Amino acid sequence: MKSLLLLAPLSLTLPTTALFILLPLYAYPNTSASDWNNATAAIAAYPKVQWQVIVNPDSGPGTTGYPTDQNYITAIAQLNSYANVQTLGYVDTDNTHRAYSAVVSDINVYASWANYPNTQYNISMAGIFFDDVNNTKSTAVSTYMHNASAYAYATVPSDVTPVVFNPGALAPTTLFSYCDTMVEFENFSSSYQNATTIATIPSAYRGQSAILVHDTTGTTNVKSLVHTMAQDGIEAVYFTSDCCYNALNGTLLMQLAAAVQAG
Ligand SMILES: *[C@@H]1O[C@H](CO)[C@@H](O)[C@H](O)[C@H]1NC(C)=O
Ligand SMILES: *[C@@H]1O[C@H](CO)[C@@H](O)[C@H](O)[C@H]1NC(C)=O
Ligand SMILES: *[C@@H]1O[C@H](CO)[C@@H](O)[C@H](O)[C@H]1NC(C)=O
Ligand SMILES: *[C@@H]1O[C@H](CO)[C@@H](O)[C@H](O)[C@H]1NC(C)=O
Ligand SMILES: *[C@@H]1O[C@H](CO)[C@@H](O)[C@H](O)[C@H]1NC(C)=O
Ligand SMILES: *[C@@H]1O[C@H](CO)[C@@H](O)[C@H](O)[C@H]1NC(C)=O
Ligand SMILES: *[C@@H]1O[C@H](CO)[C@@H](O)[C@H](O)[C@H]1NC(C)=O
Ligand SMILES: *[C@@H]1O[C@H](CO)[C@@H](O)[C@H](O)[C@H]1NC(C)=O
Repeated sequence: MKSLLLLAPLSLTLPTTALFILLPLYAYPNTSASDWNNATAAIAAYPKVQWQVIVNPDSGPGTTGYPTDQNYITAIAQLNSYANVQTLGYVDTDNTHRAYSAVVSDINVYASWANYPNTQYNISMAGIFFDDVNNTKSTAVSTYMHNASAYAYATVPSDVTPVVFNPGALAPTTLFSYCDTMVEFENFSSSYQNATTIATIPSAYRGQSAILVHDTTGTTNVKSLVHTMAQDGIEAVYFTSDCCYNALNGTLLMQLAAAVQAG
């Protein structure tokens, strides 16, 4: 949501976007991005599926300048080479307990990556993912998050600048005005109840809502669960077999991409 003036009409004027995959890519890429291969294989195998990929070198950009680790540079540039990928920089807000100046500093670092001098590697970030968003309905939270997202929209040099908030649970609807996507559910697979969980998300906001399901098992019916999300107008999804987004399970990623493409 780049402009406040557009906030109210946006959901009415834009065509409904198809479900996309919001991938928290917290695993270390390793040499030649070898440890991200399971993700890029699914990205390449399903070019019609859109992905927003959260890049997180060190619970944030990790440095005050460009990444110092060539493995990250190679791997991020590889992600940016896919037309169906938008890369998002990870910024922690620690439930508003993090100093706002530290949030600004992280956004500045990600924004600067667009100027990486070795143009052989495009490490630009398209947008920002704010983690640990406080979902208390309060003026202090609202001001902090409005401020942070406005700074991201103004600073990241991208035509699109997707901004995602992750409270991991239902957020006050007022906060939706400040982001493109809100993670309304982030929890164990055993806590995810399909249509029952979706019904907890106010219907007018489902097209701006993401669902992240962790600790899936081999019996998790990804195809059926994703189908219900698509039917019910959810915007974005991710399933992972581990707790904390360090595993890139190639089998599950292919299942997920196939399910999202099928709708
Ligand atoms: C990098 O990959 C090598 C070869 O597969 C593996 O032995 C090593 O543990 C990996 N390192 C990290 C940090 O994942
Ligand atoms: C770098 O990648 C981003 C994201 O994919 C893209 O929007 C941008 O146009 C690319 N920049 C260049 C110089 O190719
Ligand atoms: C969320 O913000 C409120 C103040 O607006 C604060 O009292 C509360 O501690 C914060 N929540 C968490 C989980 O830190
Ligand atoms: C809002 O942003 C301004 C400018 O970036 C900053 O000076 C101010 O401290 C921020 N306020 C809050 C509540 O985060
Ligand atoms: C995860 O689900 C459990 C059980 O349904 C619930 O108690 C807990 O509050 C949920 N966690 C979050 C972050 O919503
Ligand atoms: C990977 O995902 C598949 C499909 O959900 C599952 O059967 C398998 O157990 C997972 N592997 C690991 C190591 O979690
Ligand atoms: C999810 O809910 C839908 C709609 O109620 C139902 O058709 C489908 O079978 C359910 N899928 C699973 C895996 O429970
Ligand atoms: C890739 O996925 C397969 C399962 O399909 C898994 O066994 C393997 O460990 C994964 N590799 C990496 C580097 O995550």
